[in-house]
Amino acid sequence: MRILSGIQPSGKLHIGNYFGMMQTMISRMESSELYVFIVDLHALTSVREREKLATGTLEAAADFLALGLDPDKCIFWVQSDVPEVCELTWVLSTLTPMGLMERCHSYKDKVAKGIIASHGLFSYPILMAADILLYQSEQVPVGKDQKQHLEVARDIAQKFNNEYGETFVIPEPAISEKTATIPGLDGQKMSKSYDNTIPIFLEGKQLKKRVMAIETDATPVEDPKDPDTCNLYNILRHFATPERMAEIRDLYVNGGAAYGYLKLELLDLINDKFSAARERKKELLNDPEMIRQILRKGAEKAREKAVVTMDLVRDRVGLKY
Ligand code: ADP
Ligand code: TRP
Repeated sequence: MRILSGIQPSGKLHIGNYFGMMQTMISRMESSELYVFIVDLHALTSVREREKLATGTLEAAADFLALGLDPDKCIFWVQSDVPEVCELTWVLSTLTPMGLMERCHSYKDKVAKGIIASHGLFSYPILMAADILLYQSEQVPVGKDQKQHLEVARDIAQKFNNEYGETFVIPEPAISEKTATIPGLDGQKMSKSYDNTIPIFLEGKQLKKRVMAIETDATPVEDPKDPDTCNLYNILRHFATPERMAEIRDLYVNGGAAYGYLKLELLDLINDKFSAARERKKELLNDPEMIRQILRKGAEKAREKAVVTMDLVRDRVGLKY
């Protein structure tokens, strides 16, 4: 199975990114042909500071490596190091119906949140389709927010295949029910753009401040509470064991759940889960040249695949004369 997914280097990666995508990718290293990349071209739609994008890209790479991604067991690279993706984007954009793009809600959502309404932001899903189709990906693990983008990629692939003959594999989304949407501090989807995240690599007092800021209601400790609508509970369940979660659920349903204590328990669990990775990340960032080398090697391998698809595409559409 060929599996591919990418992440934008547009801010500090958070536990929503981890459970929604990174963990799935890292766990598939042994069993699949794995493609993991940092989508810096996509990030250009929202990051306009040179330094922020460049260091964000290195940091996102360090995050993956620190969390256990082994570059010898996958292809790991930076999107812009394989320029074929831009050429494919153009070809695909010439057969993407405007109506399909106009139906995409992420453009409208992002503009509503204050991101500048550029053409790049509007055509973001076509670049994402090119990412997926260039490597003939079979499965794409993402969070639920990316479902519509996957549908766009499938529609474009089908249209291309119908018009020019079988060329692209039709990709399937892989969205796990359990981790489809991790809630943020305020109960909305955890997202860099809502400033409601718990960053994976935050430490000490800053981390504690974020965890203690998880919004809860004012129900007294001894009163029964609904666990399923509580964002603290819905974050905790990704960290605590099933046995402990059964106990916590009991406290919610029958009274006795003290939010303050549960937040401190969550803080400990987050620290346990990520403390080794935090140390590894610091070591990795001490040697950025090594990270660059890993990414360059990955880009060479990715490009070998990309040129094969691009050659076929050029031939199919008549760009080979
Ligand atoms: P953000 O919304 O914070 O900008 P990205 O769009 O960079 O996050 O998402 C990167 C990956 O992480 C995508 O696969 C996305 O679906 C997943 N993801 C992001 N936020 C969440 C979340 N709260 N729950 C589950 N998955 C998420
Ligand atoms: N759009 C995705 C996000 O915002 C990132 C992304 C770009 C991606 N290209 C991709 C994800 C290809 C999966 C496959 O999170």
